[in-house]
Amino acid sequence: MSEINELFSRCGIAEQEFTGGTLSVCSPIDGAELARIPERSVAETPAVIARSLAAFKKWRLIPAPVRGELVRLWGEELRAVKTDIGRIVSLEVGKIVEEGLGEVQECIDICDFALGLSRQLYGKTIVSERPGHRIMEQYHPLGPVGVITAFNFPSAVFAWNAALALVCGDPVIFKPSEKAPLSGLATVKALDRAIARFGNRAPDGLVQIMIGRGDIGAALVASPDVALISATGSTRMGRAVGPKVAERFGRRILELGGNNAMIVTPHADLDMALRAILFGAVGTAGQRCTTLRRLIVHGSVKTKLLAKVLAAYETLRIDNPLTAGTLVGPLIDKTAFDQMQSSIEQARAQGGRVLTGGQRVHADRFPEGYYVRPAVIEMPAQTDIVRHETFAPILYVLEYDDFDAAIEMHNDVPQGLSSCIFSNNMREVETFLSASGSDCGMANVNIGPNGAEIGGAFGGEKETGGDRESGSDAWKQYMRRTTNTINFSTELPLAQGITFG
Ligand code: UN1
Repeated sequence: MSEINELFSRCGIAEQEFTGGTLSVCSPIDGAELARIPERSVAETPAVIARSLAAFKKWRLIPAPVRGELVRLWGEELRAVKTDIGRIVSLEVGKIVEEGLGEVQECIDICDFALGLSRQLYGKTIVSERPGHRIMEQYHPLGPVGVITAFNFPSAVFAWNAALALVCGDPVIFKPSEKAPLSGLATVKALDRAIARFGNRAPDGLVQIMIGRGDIGAALVASPDVALISATGSTRMGRAVGPKVAERFGRRILELGGNNAMIVTPHADLDMALRAILFGAVGTAGQRCTTLRRLIVHGSVKTKLLAKVLAAYETLRIDNPLTAGTLVGPLIDKTAFDQMQSSIEQARAQGGRVLTGGQRVHADRFPEGYYVRPAVIEMPAQTDIVRHETFAPILYVLEYDDFDAAIEMHNDVPQGLSSCIFSNNMREVETFLSASGSDCGMANVNIGPNGAEIGGAFGGEKETGGDRESGSDAWKQYMRRTTNTINFSTELPLAQGITFG
């Protein structure tokens, strides 16, 4: 049996699920075909949604702590196949081994978080202005949740959504990226095993995966029976999804583009900044929504910091992501490579100086694999191309002299996902975190913009979509809140002191 077939079998993916179909999935490592998946058709979507609705009617009646037991089992199943799913992630999207494993760990972490949450779906008790009255809030299950994910986190983003949805009492319909359906399928298989162990308290159709084309996602988005759409991807995708969900007054969580920056001040520990720059700008080959894309550095430390950055870029090992020691794997496909090249050209035309990188490498060894040297481009100003998110390892360097101007430049992009400052100066740091500081959903101090833990709310402002998923109180979006006013007196006083009749 070939390696990939063994992996699939250990992950519970049957042969007929990855052979003989019409969706060809190729590895970005070398272009080799990994699977031919039988696709679901959009015509099946209404039946899938009907099944999900039927499952909802049963699942919402199971007490939340019992629902938590299901995600506990899912976490156990994921632990058992962590290295296998991690490897599928590496094969399918080209992440280095460490990052493939990290992705599965993120799934395990959110299961643990959701398990705890299953006993903490708290509402408030509110004092009433009327005697003999009490007000309270309850959170109830919402309905089917449609999860549409991008290629770059093919497993974790599904898990963020599914773990919360399940404890909140919602069934899930999952539409993975056509570029990376296998990691998602393996993650769902682990959940299927957890459901089997959980027994018949889990209704049929609690979790369904729809591998296929974009029209399936569009059908989920359009259906009033899908109570919440959680979509991760480009701003272009969000522009199509957002208004469609709004039209039917549905709920949505959009997690779209980022254009994340680091401000490095004269008070920064430059060696720490360097390490964060490397993981931030070249990790995942620049294909995280949280990737570091802009380095805003004070004139007095720019030369010193750039010398360190360029020296470190020289030593980067760009290679097969499965090989130990590799730090940069391939881009997802040729389109990503072409977009990177076009952005570099535009940066040049807009006055940019390419300090290193940008070229394709290993084309001889991997004619079908798009490996690139991460680029560092010094820009005279924050031009149009810098304000645009290119999903590839390009780091734009911008200089500042005045701290307030640095923050202004930092915020002067359409996206607002993640951000960070490197400084040991308390005034700079607190200003960056204050109301007049970073306008992003995530603002960090002395760590990079990427690699967030699951415990915080994840998401951003402006074109990033404005929503949050994963930790903190993101769970509230997966539930409907009711406010209950209870009268235990023998009178019927009206609020606002109104006398009526
Ligand atoms: C994404 O790129 O869509 O913070 C998600 C991070 C990861 C999640 C990224 N925990 O980089």
